[in-house]
Formats: sequence, C-alpha cells, structure tokens
Amino acid sequence: MASKKVFLQTFGCQMNVRDSEVICGLLKSRGFLVCDDPEGADILIFNTCSVRQHAEDKVWSEVGRLSKRRDKSRRPIIGIVGCMAQNHKEKAFERASGIDFVVGPSDIDKIPEIINKISGKSLYEVKIWETDGSLRPENIYHTGFHADEKHSYVVISEGCSNFCSYCVVPYVRGALHNRRHNDILKEIEEAVDKGITSFTLLGQNVNAYHSEVDFIGLLKTVGKVKGLKEFSFLTSHPRNTSIELFKAMAGEEKLKKILHLPVQSGSDRILKLMNRGYNSRFYLDLVQNYRKIVQGGILTTDVIVGFPSETEKDFSETYGLLKGIRFNSAFIFKYSPRMGTAADKLPDDVVKAEKERRHKLILDLQKGISKAIRHPRE
Ligand code: SAH
Ligand code: SF4
Ligand code: F3S
Repeated sequence: MASKKVFLQTFGCQMNVRDSEVICGLLKSRGFLVCDDPEGADILIFNTCSVRQHAEDKVWSEVGRLSKRRDKSRRPIIGIVGCMAQNHKEKAFERASGIDFVVGPSDIDKIPEIINKISGKSLYEVKIWETDGSLRPENIYHTGFHADEKHSYVVISEGCSNFCSYCVVPYVRGALHNRRHNDILKEIEEAVDKGITSFTLLGQNVNAYHSEVDFIGLLKTVGKVKGLKEFSFLTSHPRNTSIELFKAMAGEEKLKKILHLPVQSGSDRILKLMNRGYNSRFYLDLVQNYRKIVQGGILTTDVIVGFPSETEKDFSETYGLLKGIRFNSAFIFKYSPRMGTAADKLPDDVVKAEKERRHKLILDLQKGISKAIRHPRE
C-alpha cells in the first residue's frame, strides 16, 4: 500500500517549530510521507498557537482555506494539534466541523496511532481528541529527524509555572518540566553525529532549568560537546536571570552573546498586575550588568501595550524604558485577553484604537533604534 502523505503547517513560537519536527520524525518512523503540498496530502495537520486571539484567528482561517479541496472526491483527514488544540479541546469540533482529531502538546506522541485509527474507517466517521496527557515520553526527541542540516532547536524544559497574569501558556503547556541533563546531551550528540553544529536551547524560562545540574551547569556541559560549533538559548525571564548567568555567557566561547529578555512593561504598577515578579529598577540593573559583563552582547525584548488599566503615564514609562535601553530589537504586542487567565478577569479597557496608537508609537521608536544600531554612521 502506498504511504499516506502528510502536510504539516506550523504556527507560533520556536517551541512549536521543534514540536513539528518531532511530529514529522514520529510520522516518518511509522511509514508516513511528509510532503510540502497541502493539495496532494491525505492528512493535514495544523500545529497551532493560542498566545493571542490573532494567532488563533490565523489558524482558523488557514484550516478553512486548506480544507476546501479542488478535488472534492478525496477529503483529507484534518488534525489540530498543539496549544490551540489544548485550549479548545473537543469544542474545536464544534467550531470547524471538518476537523477529525484534536491533540494537545503533551499528547503529540499519539498522533500516528490516531491517524491510523481514523483512516481505518472508510468514511472517517470517528472524531478523536487527546488532551489529558501530562508528560511527553523522552523517546519522541530521538527520532533522528531534523528539518535543517546545520541547526537544531533543543527543548530543555516543557511547560511553564510562572503564571504571568495575561498568559495562556501555563494552561495549554502544563507545569514546568525539566528534561534530564543526560537526555539533553544525548539528543545534542545524536544531532552532531548527523552533521548539525549549531543549537538553540529552548524553554519558556530557561534560567529556571534544574535537574542534575542548573542552567549554568547545563550551558557548561553543552559547550563541551565535541563537534558543536555554536549555541544559544531562549527565553530568559528577568526574575531568574543573574550576574552569574552573564559571567557564564562571557566565559563560554561557543555560546552566542544574545539575550532575549522580555520586559513586557516599563510601569511598575502594570508589571505587578502582570505578576512578573520584578520592577523596572531590577530590570535596568540587569541590563547594566549584562552590558558590562557580556561586552558587545545583543539584547532583545518583548513588550505588551494596552494591558488592562494601562494609562498614558504607564505607557510613557514603557516608551521611556525602550528609549533609554536601546534594545537591538523588540517584539511589540497588543494585549489580547486569554480565557481562564487572571488578567481575563480585569476589564479589557484600553480601546482598540488606543492599543493601535500605542503599538505604532513603540514600533516606530524601536524601528529607529534598531536601524541606528545596525548603521551607526548614517
Ligand atoms: N515565555 C516567554 C514568552 C511567552 S509568549 C516569556 O516569558 O517571555 C511570547 C510573548 O507573547 C510574551 O513575551 C508576551 O510579550 C506576548 N504575550 C503573551 N500573552 C499575551 C497576551 N495575552 N496578549 C498580548 N501579548 C501576549
Ligand atoms: Fe507566559 Fe510568563 Fe510563562 Fe512566559 S514566563 S510562558 S509569559 S507565563
Ligand atoms: Fe508557543 Fe504559542 Fe504555544 S507562543 S508555547 S505555540 S501558545
């Protein structure tokens, strides 16, 4: 029998990029063919993101678009997996009736089996959802499949237990779980054997990593892996970022001098409402130390504008902070309420037009700064 063709589309963050690779690896090891043409595929999988409403809207519209086939006689099996799948669970079937399966981030190992179950039925009459898993089996990270020849993402911790008040991630990805140190090293060594020399260690808050070693210990051992040429990490939470980390960064020859340190807001009142666990003074001190210790280090950030109750004064504090720090680059987001989060209980009272105005102001500011840093003599 000819192999079934799967088309997989990825939305969201780097964590999802790696998860999609893991899913492809699992599917290939079970005899599926991964293809890059949705039209010819027997199975369409959407690996989704739930972090903002806009991210979800994009998925729904792609599902609608790709489900409409030119060849009406062959309906593809359609699956929604990842964060949005977890967020909607079986309710996703009500939203889009063409969906056949829904699988959360902790259940991705079950995808090949689910597809086999559904395609065994002649009219695909079953709907399957798996959203109750808690821990991913370690072996999913060792299928040997890599989308890129030179670089690979390596998940060092899954989930997040920080509960920033606006954020859906702890709800859809579950509590923080650290992978074992030896398992991470083994995955990196296996990839090096395949010719991959560049790595990005991934976690929602990598600095909180702790197993047999802490994050700094992990950086030191990863730096010693034979054949590895360079590596970096993503994302750092200011609360768990320290001078010791900067010293380790400066000392690790193969570690790229890049720090993504989301600040979210420059207003202490808003930072408190966001449950971020630091204030702007603490953040500024971190930045000062980073620049002193990691000479020439790149610094990037994330900012949310229009958080509930954000006043013009709060906003100008964020604006002032970005102007003062001069990040190399920054991602600026308009606040979007997420169901079930603590901030969802606060009124979403910064009107759309005002969110857009603040978004544009900060975006323009940052564009100018990024350009001036890239071309200092212009
Ligand atoms: N774990 C990382 C990133 C998580 S999501 C961290 O803590 O930084 C990536 C970014 O999306 C966040 O940094 C935040 O700026 C943004 N974000 C998360 N939830 C949001 C929401 N409800 N509305 C708008 N932006 C949000
Ligand atoms: Fe979300 Fe905060 Fe966790 Fe980042 S640290 S994933 S923003 S809860
Ligand atoms: Fe990433 Fe989006 Fe999930 S940012 S962790 S894919 S909600």
